[in-house]
Amino acid sequence: MKIICHGGAGHTPKVQDGVDKAAEEGWKILKETDNPTLAATAATIIMEDDFRFNAGTGSCLRDDGRVQNDAAVATSDGRMGAITNLQDFKNPVLVARELLDEFVTMLAGEGAIEFALKKGFKQTKVKGSEKGWTGDTVGAVAQSSDGKIAVASSTGGVRGRPVGRVGDTPLWGSGFYCDESIGILATGVGEAITEQLMCYRVYQHSKNLEKALEWGVKLLPKDTGVGIIAIRNDGQIYGTSNTSMPLKIIED
Ligand code: GLY
Repeated sequence: MKIICHGGAGHTPKVQDGVDKAAEEGWKILKETDNPTLAATAATIIMEDDFRFNAGTGSCLRDDGRVQNDAAVATSDGRMGAITNLQDFKNPVLVARELLDEFVTMLAGEGAIEFALKKGFKQTKVKGSEKGWTGDTVGAVAQSSDGKIAVASSTGGVRGRPVGRVGDTPLWGSGFYCDESIGILATGVGEAITEQLMCYRVYQHSKNLEKALEWGVKLLPKDTGVGIIAIRNDGQIYGTSNTSMPLKIIED
């Protein structure tokens, strides 16, 4: 069993305790259930509920002052769910998780809101963080005792971007990728990560996970913040960034 969590590329080490708490919660759920999807989402929820992170309650604001969230979940058995521009839900990652068992894999804006309400989530004002954010997307990758992998990711996006802007986080192959061999998440400047199809290209190089992630980070200029975390089904686990990125691994 394994879990790796990150608190966002560019985030200060001061929030390491929040990432530790997320990993510990994910680990507890993994031990109890051996279910990597429940573990990865449980870890992500801890950071969505911590105002210091750019996700859920602490999300940065769009250029008109509102909060719009993106989130994604995917599993090694070939399921995925992603939402984008979801407004005023406390835990967007849970809405994305609901899509795992639907025919539709991705919903945006009004459609995402309607889906969330139909699934029983409460729409409630998410204030977001008016202060300049110092961190990006949060997320977790977990692996069960029999090698199943899941990834979960959530973000408020990038401060000051326009309403309706879509970053890398909900985009398959850019901000997340998962199949029977690997689970990968990216964090950082969404436009740059998307242009590089970051997670899918890292997967293509991933026989040696450490080298692949270091290669992936170097796809972007040094001054463009990016981080990547991943678990391979043979047990390799690694995370790296070209900037500060609070990270926590727990494994047995
Ligand atoms: N990486 C999150 C975003 O750019 O939206």
